[in-house]
Amino acid sequence: MTSSTDKDRVFIFDTTLRDGEQSPGATMTHDEKLEIASLLDEMGVDIIEAGFPIASEGDFKAVSEIAANAQNAVICGLARANIGDIDRCWEAVKHAKQPRIHTFIGTSPLHRAIPNLTQDEMAERIHETVTHARNLCDNVQWSPMDATRTEWDYLARVVEIAIKAGASTINIPDTVGYTAPVESADLIRRLIAEVPGAQDVIFATHCHNDLGMATANSLAAVEGGARQIECTINGLGERAGNTALEEVVMALKVRGDIMPYYTDIDAKKIMNISRRVATVSGFPVQFNKAIVGKNAFAHESGIHQDGMLKNAETFEIMRPEDVGLSETSLVMGKHSGRAALRAKLKDLGFELGDNQLKDVFVRFKDLADRKKEVYDDDLVALMRAGEDPENDRLKITSLRVQCGTEGPQQADLVMQIDGVEKTTSQTGDGPVDATFNAVKALFPHTARLQLYQVHAVTEGTDAQATVSVRMEEDGRIVTGQSADTDTVVASAKAYVNALNRLIVRREKTAPGEDRREITYKDVS
Ligand code: KIV
Ligand code: ZN
Repeated sequence: MTSSTDKDRVFIFDTTLRDGEQSPGATMTHDEKLEIASLLDEMGVDIIEAGFPIASEGDFKAVSEIAANAQNAVICGLARANIGDIDRCWEAVKHAKQPRIHTFIGTSPLHRAIPNLTQDEMAERIHETVTHARNLCDNVQWSPMDATRTEWDYLARVVEIAIKAGASTINIPDTVGYTAPVESADLIRRLIAEVPGAQDVIFATHCHNDLGMATANSLAAVEGGARQIECTINGLGERAGNTALEEVVMALKVRGDIMPYYTDIDAKKIMNISRRVATVSGFPVQFNKAIVGKNAFAHESGIHQDGMLKNAETFEIMRPEDVGLSETSLVMGKHSGRAALRAKLKDLGFELGDNQLKDVFVRFKDLADRKKEVYDDDLVALMRAGEDPENDRLKITSLRVQCGTEGPQQADLVMQIDGVEKTTSQTGDGPVDATFNAVKALFPHTARLQLYQVHAVTEGTDAQATVSVRMEEDGRIVTGQSADTDTVVASAKAYVNALNRLIVRREKTAPGEDRREITYKDVS
């Protein structure tokens, strides 16, 4: 059980699987959620918000299984302020060694207007629902959504009600990313000083990054007395995202001189989980993102390189190894063996069984034949590209594309659909368009392409391209990814990967059911 005895300990509450997964297009499969939860648990996250059990059958199952599997972390589910939500949440989290119910209601004037409750009616609802949650579970967290735009008197009043009803954690969300550091610190400080009972509970901070201040606001809240930071890996989350776990953890580590607080996170696991979350969510990490961006530890300018060679501390406030980035990213070429590949992949966070290794080794050799030097990022992209091949109903057998200055371009595609080989030739406005038209001709569908993104994994003209394709059909949003030294091939594979995911999603859910009809913004 997490204890609140040490006054400088900051609990890390990760909501990648709830607030993060809520961002449009970041939907993860059941197995991906389980995998991320176990990585979070292993890295020392104190509380994992595993989902929103009432939102869908899928969320309920994921939260239940994560709860049953968790080794160390408290497992928390989200519930709106009503009995049905809270009961459903409890049904899911009760399997955990350490369950928590997190219930919330929007308390600002704008949010109070949605359920059309007066201040008194809402106060009564808070009392009832927190009491009900507390009767089910001895660990209850309560949040006044949009707290930072709630009138002070009313906020203080409802926080007191929730504490009296039995909430042991009070979370103060900056739901719309509106607050600033000085306010964030003051608000928590004042609540702790003025609300009866506030000294006996843990205050949490939950910031969104709309003005780019989520990390600063979270750290300021800690200065004000908060001892739980709510955050997500890579800052994943709706709109501009949530506070990034890696940023607050490393800020507290690096600047312990002025912020004498600590977390129990094993920072060396940061890079690995960051890569996995980027892969499964389909949200790539921006190159210059603090801590986990590709360029976060790269020193390209001559002056920097010179300084770095003389003394790494000239330009580095933390070492790449501190966050789990290996010192050199140049790994192997075509002469590297299977054992070396296994060891390198383990280093990168991929533990493979013998059969999996066999398959990856073939693809690694194929890549090494086409590319002189294979870097860490190439291997990560290779792993990303090769997921779920066995169950895929659509498989590309061959693709030939004719390009040139004279259009239109033509794609000749052979694809297996449920084991039956089909062939087509289609033209298009460019090679990718021709290829996508060919896929669509063989597998007609109404899904709309929402995003098509290409990144070069490494430098050089032989670099692999990673392609992300996001598609939407009847409210279901899926993301496909792939990598190849040939950008058009990577695009075709990513498109087919998205369609395979869509097929699975169609089988599991009725139209509209998958993308929650209930969102966390609904109150009643
Ligand atoms: O941003 C927010 O207010 C939330 C609440 C549900 C805690 O995510
Ligand atoms: Zn949020």
